[in-house]
Amino acid sequence: MTDANEDSDVSRRDYIKAAGAGTIGVTGLAGCMGGGGGGDSTTTTDSGSDETTESTDDGGETTTEESSSDYETLEVQHWWTGGDGAAAVEALFEGFAEAYPDIEVNQNPVSGGAGQNLETVIKKRVLNNNPPSSWQAWPGANLQPYVAADKLEDIGDSVWSKNGMKDAYLEGPKEAARPGGNFVTVPLNIHRINNLFYNVSVVEEAGVDPASIETPGDLVSAMETVESKTDAVGMAHQTSSAWSTTQLWATVLLGENDVETYNSFAEGNVADDEEAVKSSLQTVVDYAEHFNDDAGSVSWTEANQKILNGEAAFFHQGDWAAGMYRGQDGFEFEDDWDHVPFPGTEGVYALNMDSFPFPTNNPSPEATTKFLQYVGSVDAQERFNPKKGSIPPRTDVPSDEFGPFLTRQMDDFQNSDSQVQSIEHGLAIAPDPKSNISDAMASFISNWNVDNTYQQLTQAFN
Ligand code: GAL
Repeated sequence: MTDANEDSDVSRRDYIKAAGAGTIGVTGLAGCMGGGGGGDSTTTTDSGSDETTESTDDGGETTTEESSSDYETLEVQHWWTGGDGAAAVEALFEGFAEAYPDIEVNQNPVSGGAGQNLETVIKKRVLNNNPPSSWQAWPGANLQPYVAADKLEDIGDSVWSKNGMKDAYLEGPKEAARPGGNFVTVPLNIHRINNLFYNVSVVEEAGVDPASIETPGDLVSAMETVESKTDAVGMAHQTSSAWSTTQLWATVLLGENDVETYNSFAEGNVADDEEAVKSSLQTVVDYAEHFNDDAGSVSWTEANQKILNGEAAFFHQGDWAAGMYRGQDGFEFEDDWDHVPFPGTEGVYALNMDSFPFPTNNPSPEATTKFLQYVGSVDAQERFNPKKGSIPPRTDVPSDEFGPFLTRQMDDFQNSDSQVQSIEHGLAIAPDPKSNISDAMASFISNWNVDNTYQQLTQAFN
């Protein structure tokens, strides 16, 4: 279904091209942008605009009619294609077109879960002073190098003083929008990471009650039961890229320990928690025995399809997975799929957000200001989040459209004892160490070697 889109050839070609034009590793960019670390050369020869021209074909749509507008075309890049949020982003741009019919929009997506391909394109374009009008970006630490290099504008007055944003936003998202003190970006959604989704018929056939799984380790025996009693695999997962396993491991670290241990790792104290880190890695190795056989070649949406089809019992993923369930007719919450907080993490809301920054050298400053004001509005957040499987960062968005699952997530959020920030999504960790963690996890998913991975993780923050 959706994955033709997610893994489209165009995107892959763009990514390879961008990576090959090369030298734009995260470290190189951060170094060049003055964000610390670094040392790699960052010289590039071809212009970022090449990619954008090609990738326009990749599911991108111009959502407004031709008009003799005073506005420059608004170019927005994101990775929401296919099952990974396409319906939600369409709803967002439909609302924007209604509000601003004379702004022409060029959605220019680069597919690939968790920004695995878009990131490279954006860094290159920003370095070349040829940024899009805005793009999908995790706020918080992830944007620090851009702020340090003076690549993002202060939008405290032009955007954040409109629509009652400063009063309506929750404190956490507001903080994340100010990675260097000034408001530079606008969060659109809040995703939860510590979820365990499951196919109801499969666990019932196996006689497993997910609510009774208390620890990450107990999930291993639940999966053994599933596999002995049904034809399904224990856990749907993708290891074709590292990010889903980084998320899974960080959630296990949280579930086997506590918020302090998780935060201490995120602050770089890896060796202080040697036992906790090694044990959580080992648990993931144990899970890997129960992954689908094709984990190494599928995307996250293809892995999630196995929950939809009843070929797998459990799925750990951000609640964007629920956006896919919602988009599937006849696959109903509680009857067909359900959710518990990941074992051991009850009372915690591990969060991730997507936001849209305002770059310097903006090709369409007026249109971008309007767009970011819109992203920060009730209307935008009410249209986008129910379809995406996320909850709004504004507190005044009516909950009628959100359905029972997201209403439950909203309650869990409101009642949570702590809200830790995602490691994989760079809210808690700046791009350089985050990139080193991704490298460590990329080796991990190929050799499942706990000791080597631990050693690599100890170096990640150096
Ligand atoms: C996350 C993003 C989500 C979702 C997911 C999978 O980083 O915040 O919105 O798209 O990646 O690609």
